[in-house]
Order: sequence, then C-alpha cells, then structure tokens
Amino acid sequence: MARPVTVITGASAGIGVELARVFARNGHALALVARREQRLNALADEIAATGALRPIVIAADLTHEPARKIGEALAAHGAEPQFVVNNAGFGLAGRVFNLDRDEQLDMIDLNVRTLTELSIAFLDSLERHKGGLLNVGSVAGFLPGPGMAVYYASKAYVLSFTEALHKELKGRGIRVSVLCPGPVATEFAERAGVKGNVAPPILAQPAAYVAEQGYRGLMSGHRVVVPGLANKLVTIIVRLVPRRLIMATVNVRQSRRSSALGA
Ligand SMILES: NC(=O)c1ccc[n+]([C@@H]2O[C@H](COP(=O)([O-])OP(=O)(O)OC[C@H]3O[C@@H](n4cnc5c(N)ncnc54)[C@H](OP(=O)(O)O)[C@@H]3O)[C@@H](O)[C@H]2O)c1
Repeated sequence: MARPVTVITGASAGIGVELARVFARNGHALALVARREQRLNALADEIAATGALRPIVIAADLTHEPARKIGEALAAHGAEPQFVVNNAGFGLAGRVFNLDRDEQLDMIDLNVRTLTELSIAFLDSLERHKGGLLNVGSVAGFLPGPGMAVYYASKAYVLSFTEALHKELKGRGIRVSVLCPGPVATEFAERAGVKGNVAPPILAQPAAYVAEQGYRGLMSGHRVVVPGLANKLVTIIVRLVPRRLIMATVNVRQSRRSSALGA
C-alpha cells in the first residue's frame, strides 16, 4: 500500500503554513501544495529540522486539473492522501461590476471547483487510510456579502457542500469538517486588494490558533469549526436577524474597503 500523507493546499502562506505545522507536530507526513515553490521548500526544511519526515513539495497552480497534478506527484513518491486539506483560496474586494470578470471566475475555479474536485478525487484513499477532509470556508459563508459578493458566495458553497459531505461520508469512516475562520492577518487582505486593517479586533484570530482549532475539530469529528467565541456568535446571530439587516451591515463594512480602493 502507498504511504499515507496529508495533502495541504495553499501551504506557502498564512493559514496553510500553520495547518502544515500543526499536522506535522501531530505526526502526520505531509505533501505541501501551492505555486511558490521556494516558500514550500523553506517550510519543508523547517519541518524536517524538527526530526519529522521532509514533506513532499508540489509546486502547482491548482486552478486546472488539480487532482491529476497532485495524484501524479504523490504517485512518484509512492504516496497517497490520508487527509486532504483544501485551504488554497482567495477573495476580491469591490463591486462585481468594477472587478475584473476573469479574476472573479478564477476565484470560483479555485475556491469552488478545485475544492470540489480535490474533495472527491481521493475518497478511496482517504477511506483506506481512515483519514479525512478539512475544507477551509469562512464566517463569510454564513451570509451574503455585497462588496465581496463572489467571495462570500464561494464560501457559502464550501460550507453547504462540506456539511453535506460530512453526512454522506460518515458511513465510510471518513472524517469531514469545514473550518470557518473570521478575519485572520495573512496575505489574504493584500491579495483581495483591501487597504488597511478594517476587521473588528474582537473577531480577529491568529493563523496558528485557527489552524489548531481546525485540526482538533477534524480529529474530533466536528462538522463545522468556527474559531473564537465572537465569530461563533456571528454565525448564530446571522441566522436570527433578518437577512436585509445583515446585508446592510455587510454592505457598509465592505463599502469602507471598496472606497479605499476607489472601486
Ligand atoms: N485571512 C482571512 O481573513 C480568512 C478568513 C476566512 C477564511 N479564509 C480562507 O483561508 C484560506 C487561506 O487563506 P489565507 O488567509 O491563509 O490567505 P493567503 O495568506 O493569501 O494564502 C493563500 C494560499 O493559497 C495559495 N493559492 C492561491 N492561489 C492558488 C492557486 N491558483 N494554486 C495553488 N495555490 C494557490 C497561495 O499560494 P501561492 O500564491 O504560492 O500559490 C497561498 O499559499 C482561504 O481559503 C481563505 O478564503 C481566510
């Protein structure tokens, strides 16, 4: 049987780096995936320096044929997935009519299509190794997001899809969780085109804490993991307050970002 590894996408920055560290600390062999190879190698060296097995590094753009790229790279190392962590993703701040259309569609390709493909592609291997699937959603997935509409909608998909998979795959012994962070200081804001830190401090959580919560939630078999009490409250409140009030609040918050961009 091929040796089992945890595949972590988006492991060159932010939450993905911390997810790699927490899985490695807990004894999992890793495969790190993202486009920036140098960063992946630096992280692989750091993990190897702790005495752990050096992670497999897979430098790949996951927008197209992600399962083929990852599957072939793992097979070349005699490995196959035990856990898949779909963390790679990005957002774009601004109104849909101001943002580049192709970039918005690229966001759906990565946040939705790639995540779906990688969730399904390796199920036999996850089952064989009694592993699981951790998909990174967002608190944004619980509400509509005028001013960041496609991103919020993409995370609503991740939440809905992963909750359903949790149910479907329970019978096969595959753990499935969706990790839904609130604001985390990473490269995300810069990539989204957000100027300055507009996140309410009470909601912000460090990437290392978010990753630890995600790991524990997955291993404990939790369906949805929302790091931090304030963020948990947000996900409850948005289900109780009328949708138009929620949208008005998000609209004001995202407008601040958009006006900083002139979008
Ligand atoms: N930060 C937040 O406030 C926040 C809140 C809630 C949820 N999230 C979610 O958390 C996840 C991680 O975000 P982050 O905050 O850690 O952002 P980040 O620091 O920008 O990291 C994003 C990661 O995704 C990778 N990536 C982007 N496009 C890719 C592509 N086409 N192919 C392969 N890898 C790609 C990047 O690597 P390369 O550029 O090297 O390819 C990087 O490793 C995302 O799904 C995001 O939506 C973030």
